[in-house]
Amino acid sequence: MSIRTKVVSGGYTRLLRPILFRSFHGDPEMIHEQMIRVLAAPAFSAVARTALKFLISPQGRPTTVAGIDFPNRVGLAAGMDKDGHAVKAWAPLGFGFAEVGTVTGQAQKGNDRPRVFRLPSSKALINRMGFNNDGAAALAKTLAAAGVYRGNNAAGIPIGISIGKTKKVPLEAAIEDYLSALTAVVPHADYVAINVSSPNTPNLRKLQSESALAELATELTTLAANLGVRHRVNPVPLFVKIAPDLNWPAIDAILTTCETTGISGVIATNTTLSRDGIKRFERPVAAQTGGLSGRPLARRAREVVGYVTAHTSLPVIGCGGVMTPNDALALFDVGASLVQLYTGFIYSGPALAVKINAFDLHRTGLSKQSKVI
Ligand SMILES: Cc1cc2nc3c(=O)[nH]c(=O)nc-3n(C[C@H](O)[C@H](O)[C@H](O)COP(=O)(O)O)c2cc1C
Repeated sequence: MSIRTKVVSGGYTRLLRPILFRSFHGDPEMIHEQMIRVLAAPAFSAVARTALKFLISPQGRPTTVAGIDFPNRVGLAAGMDKDGHAVKAWAPLGFGFAEVGTVTGQAQKGNDRPRVFRLPSSKALINRMGFNNDGAAALAKTLAAAGVYRGNNAAGIPIGISIGKTKKVPLEAAIEDYLSALTAVVPHADYVAINVSSPNTPNLRKLQSESALAELATELTTLAANLGVRHRVNPVPLFVKIAPDLNWPAIDAILTTCETTGISGVIATNTTLSRDGIKRFERPVAAQTGGLSGRPLARRAREVVGYVTAHTSLPVIGCGGVMTPNDALALFDVGASLVQLYTGFIYSGPALAVKINAFDLHRTGLSKQSKVI
């Protein structure tokens, strides 16, 4: 790792993070909104992006997954840039792809605040955002204004778009809602992630059941194929994002469904309902309702990724508890083709993707070969 990367990394954890965590009365969501505003500002994209690029010189190991060329194997996980306002900020920060969203068919406010909680000693977050977003059509407009279209690399990296269910839409009408979101965002997506695993929309995880997922995946892959024909392009690759709280038979059923319905890959995992691995004195905060992410999730995410890669030939994007380069390498070692992170960005700072890339690029290959499909 270069001296410059170490300086940026140390500067964040020693100086900037303590200030950030205390600003806005310590409200994690307000800090997050401010951060996205800064990253989305034209001034950032013009001057700061170039400076940052020089400072931390992003590079990594390129790969091709589901027909998409990725400049490196480290991505931004869904939920950080829900409405795509900072879509051009992620490449200069060293990410090899970014998943924007989750957006829903209709705009919605999400749950009441506060809805994000920090557990700093456990290096974790609990969130119950509930898909606050401006809606799929608004995201499409934002990406169009930024000139981001499928395959044109206007963001410097592939852009995935995560779609989910609008809260007020009943489960029985979920398919229509996903179809409308897919139709709206498809011109801008290098891949689309089908989010059926957030714990914060009532009943959403029921869409992971064999019959519900088979119906949803069939409709979405059919629409993707039809839209592909209409626009004379290959169908957009669809990934299914799963929860870490599933048992093995449930995962087996999901994998079979994905394979038989033409899904291109699996993202494992979303946040967990488990509270294992929380430091004792942070257990009162851990009583908050919501999904847990960060360090305590790492072990289970690795276990699930290892199980999934061993039971399907579909490519897997590993996600959950990537706080250090070794966490990412551990996911590659169990067969992940790509990794994503969210909570690690908050605790380890903007140099984390660059650090992982440096490790990924330079380590000698003791690891199991990851799948490149
Ligand atoms: C505040 C917050 C919001 C999130 N929002 C979404 C979302 O909208 N869609 C989604 O698929 N995952 C969402 N996630 C889950 C992350 O994408 C990721 O799967 C999870 O946090 C585990 O990764 P991590 O340990 O690196 O954070 C969110 C996570 C956090 C902490």
